[in-house]
Amino acid sequence: MTDLNGLIVFVETFGCQMNESDSERIAGLLVAAGARLTDRPEDSQVTIVNTCAVRGKSEEKLFSYLGRLRSLKKKTGLRIVLAGCVAQLHRDRILDRNPEVDFILGPDNYHLLPELLERRLGRPRVFTAWSKDWREDERRLSLRRSPVSAFVTVMEGCDNFCAYCIVPFTRGREKFRPLRTVLDEVRILAGQGYKEIQFLGQNVNSYRDPDTGAVFPDLLRAADEIDGLEWIRFITSHPKNFGPELAEAMARSRHVCRQIHLPLQSGSSAVLERMKRSYSREEYLEKTRVLRSLLPGICLSTDIIVGFPGETESEFSETLGALDEIRFANIFSFRYSPRPHTSAAKLKDDVPFGVKRRRLMDVQQAQKAIQTRIHEGFIGRTIRVLCQGKSKKDGRVFSGRSEGYQVVNFRSEADVIGRFVQVRITSCGPYSLRGELAESP
Ligand code: 5AD
Ligand code: SF4
Repeated sequence: MTDLNGLIVFVETFGCQMNESDSERIAGLLVAAGARLTDRPEDSQVTIVNTCAVRGKSEEKLFSYLGRLRSLKKKTGLRIVLAGCVAQLHRDRILDRNPEVDFILGPDNYHLLPELLERRLGRPRVFTAWSKDWREDERRLSLRRSPVSAFVTVMEGCDNFCAYCIVPFTRGREKFRPLRTVLDEVRILAGQGYKEIQFLGQNVNSYRDPDTGAVFPDLLRAADEIDGLEWIRFITSHPKNFGPELAEAMARSRHVCRQIHLPLQSGSSAVLERMKRSYSREEYLEKTRVLRSLLPGICLSTDIIVGFPGETESEFSETLGALDEIRFANIFSFRYSPRPHTSAAKLKDDVPFGVKRRRLMDVQQAQKAIQTRIHEGFIGRTIRVLCQGKSKKDGRVFSGRSEGYQVVNFRSEADVIGRFVQVRITSCGPYSLRGELAESP
């Protein structure tokens, strides 16, 4: 049995919800082995940096952060573990240029951490092997940051190889968690008082239970039956695998939220084809119509990339047109950056930086106006909100999410974290709603 004997550990996370969830897993694993957590690298004996490689900018941020840790290491002697996608992808570059890093661990190797840290092995040590099979053992130890909403991973990896995307090279091929263990974890979380579950996977729609062959809509139907759970969400869905069976499972369920993140990436069929997304603009629009007819009021969100190689002004304007037509409740938008190993990296990155920057601003401006109008439509309505936390500045201002995943801020004299409250919306901005409690909690 490993004993880390009170070792003080800090975990920093860059990137997506999958990384956040992995960091919760790493923290749980280390605490179970006797470590203690701190929230400042200055106080730590070991700092673990869980990294993201999805865009060029995420990597730049990481390398400047590592520079700061290097100076800290000179003062305090802390050990540094580089985990996650950058570790998997750039192991050789890190070995060459970042001598401050003691261990390099790819996403399939976190279970090794307690032993590595206990044995104080020499450095740098590199662990980037893939495992084809699902590793279950350490997941139940996860130390979740939120007492209200929990991530539950159902699959990892991706087989899609979209032309711009590095994920298949950092996370490897798809592997699926057995349905039985997914449901066991959800039952435990519901018993612990969690109100919301967010199922995670790079492409949850391709889920297939390795034991029974059950698919994602089966998983949703089974989770919907679990007592105590109020809201169920999932991310991310690939539009090409999004079919009517999933929309119907959502519509028939009692607890699956009327909200979905469905990355469009571009509103131009020609660009989508070059991106190897396997759907056209029209097919995507049709899916949103099906969703809206089966689930009236559903909130859609999406990811958009501007400046993909060869994107013309008129192709770009089709993206703006799609935003206008679909009216997403929220979008995440990015300037294209070429990533190693991807097929788009072989194309000329020919949209000038200034043009990408202007297109990104255009997309964000257009969306800001759309969101403001959507939010204005909520004024005067009373909606159900799951309270997640409170403002750091004013202890009586609480923050939660609506069923559609909109941020809702409101005042309350009583502490309502972890509870559902009815909030009457009184004002809004483009990124959040504000209101007051419609009934005393
Ligand atoms: N350049 C810009 N954005 C990218 N994304 C993924 N790869 C790239 C890239 N090379 C965006 C996509 C994806 C989100 C997680 O990041 O929109 O859905
Ligand atoms: Fe990347 Fe495409 Fe896989 Fe999503 S579906 S992780 S964008 S390759």
